[in-house]
Amino acid sequence: MDASENVTSNPRIAAGAATIGDVIDAQLSRRAMVGGLGALAVAGCAAGPDAAAPRAASATPAAFDFPELARGLDETHHVAAGYRADVLIRWGDPLFADSPAFNPMAQTAEAQRRQFGYNNDFIGYVPLPKGDADERGLLCINHEYSSTLLMFPGVAGSYPASMTEAACRTEMAAHGGSVVEVARRGQDWSVVVGSKYNRRVTADTTPMTIAGPAAGHPRMRTSADPAGMTVSGMMNNCAGGVTPWGTWLSAEENINGNFLGDLPAGHPEAANHKRMGLPGSWYQWGRFDDRYNIGKEPNEPNRFGWIVEIDPLNPDAKPKKRTALGRFKHEGAESVVAPDGRVVIYMGDDQRFDYVYKFVTKGRYDPKNRAANRDLLDEGTLFVARFDADGTVQWLPLVHGFGPLTPANGFASQADVVIEARRAGDLLGATPMDRPEDVEPDPRTGRVWVMLTNNSRRKDDQIDAANPRAKNNHGHIIEIREPDGDFAATTSRWEILVRCGDPSKPEVGASWNPATSANGWLGSPDNGALDAQGRLWVATDGNDATGAADGLWAMQTDGPGRATGRHFFRVPLGAELCGPRFTPGGDTLFVAVQHPGDGEDDKPASFENPSTRWPDFRPDMPPRPSVMAIRRQDGGPIGG
Ligand code: FEO
Ligand code: CA
Ligand code: CA
Repeated sequence: MDASENVTSNPRIAAGAATIGDVIDAQLSRRAMVGGLGALAVAGCAAGPDAAAPRAASATPAAFDFPELARGLDETHHVAAGYRADVLIRWGDPLFADSPAFNPMAQTAEAQRRQFGYNNDFIGYVPLPKGDADERGLLCINHEYSSTLLMFPGVAGSYPASMTEAACRTEMAAHGGSVVEVARRGQDWSVVVGSKYNRRVTADTTPMTIAGPAAGHPRMRTSADPAGMTVSGMMNNCAGGVTPWGTWLSAEENINGNFLGDLPAGHPEAANHKRMGLPGSWYQWGRFDDRYNIGKEPNEPNRFGWIVEIDPLNPDAKPKKRTALGRFKHEGAESVVAPDGRVVIYMGDDQRFDYVYKFVTKGRYDPKNRAANRDLLDEGTLFVARFDADGTVQWLPLVHGFGPLTPANGFASQADVVIEARRAGDLLGATPMDRPEDVEPDPRTGRVWVMLTNNSRRKDDQIDAANPRAKNNHGHIIEIREPDGDFAATTSRWEILVRCGDPSKPEVGASWNPATSANGWLGSPDNGALDAQGRLWVATDGNDATGAADGLWAMQTDGPGRATGRHFFRVPLGAELCGPRFTPGGDTLFVAVQHPGDGEDDKPASFENPSTRWPDFRPDMPPRPSVMAIRRQDGGPIGG
């Protein structure tokens, strides 16, 4: 989702300020950079846990081998020949034995809390403790946001006056996430309705613990929670990750949109809220519930914008907001184990001119004792990235007392640093990026793939080596190489893998391997996934700016074919593709089709008049965001 959030709130950009790298450089203890970009060698790093330590990158993954799909745009989805793509679960489908049947004409919050939510985004896959990991597992799915005009009958013509409290509370119930047990028989996946693992997490009724440095801080306290330790719900959960110990990390992104109202004059949170784009006033919730009105509850937004950790194997476990990982518009949170056993989580802040982060735990991952990893994410160091023109990434610590992160600048403690991670990054001179979305580490090679979706507002005098195009409408992908596969390193190397967009148009400035076909290039990379062989796949949000549907592309990253794309799957009108996730063996790919039936700014869609009625194609049924399972017709590995 981006249409309403395409401005920057970074004051350095607004003011045209330069970075302040000199001050920071003087304080950093620089680590020696090992080798050049071509010199990565991770063989022999034996200190880490066997299962997750980087392996030698000697074996180039197999080339992709599937018949390429043609670019296009129509009312339904398409997958490469020889594959099947089946709808697994749709908005409104039952999760529990007592889930009411979906009735789009009479929606209620109570029903929605027992049904699959709206706008599926991230998909995690967690195998069950016993059984075949490729035949049975838990999907952990984010429901990022509600498309109000597409969801509710009779609202579009008179919005926002037509929004009732009941509809707003239904939206809150449609946000959040779902844990869904799924099972495969032969080629067919199905939902295990009534599984003991099935769970709905909502924006308003799921109690969560606030953990880490901001827990209990006065800025986290509200009327409903005077201790600042518990919050009900999570919202705008975009992408995420699965930890090595099998928990689900869910990333709260555009939380500003759910709040309205005005802060009292001179309120101390004014600058903080402005930096987060608060209040966005996209939703009407604040008309009916003071919690979403910043004039009534000025601290409530500080309780959102975090990474939430949820244990899908224990439906009774209270989710925890891990404040050590910082507060911003979180896109994803994919993790990897460094050679010394510390866990590293890569994160993007998806807004124009915002930053790339990583978090390094203080403690080490224990692969033999799951419970020992339970609170690993509460202690560690949060870093923000500065991409230098010489190909270095400098990871700058967001640590209270470091550089300008002092009381003189409004940071009285680490709680202030994490609550205002963006402003801390501004002061440290992090590199403002072209909307960082997924950041995917590859434990096999020590490489990290950074999806930068686009930034049409970057001006000629704002380009830099890592964001080299003004008016970057189609985004790019950066490769980071961690030295010796050490994901915890504070100095890394970077280069651009591809500049996206149509390579046949010189004015676009795209860069692709010449072997890329007319269908193989893409625009606006958003989510990435690595398959069982470590090959990169890229899902898009905004490829329609190139005249064709969003979808999924295979991306070659090694050998002479490096930077060749190949089109595999595309979504119906109005939709973007999210959440690509492979089963461990790589023979099933789950994808999330988000906001099918949506319209354009100049041609808005509605419940009554969507751009498609995918996937049901029934006149009495609105389009439904859905998760699909993709298999090769002969059951072989996806992608060949
Ligand atoms: Fe929710 Fe950054 O896309
Ligand atoms: Ca998106
Ligand atoms: Ca996204």
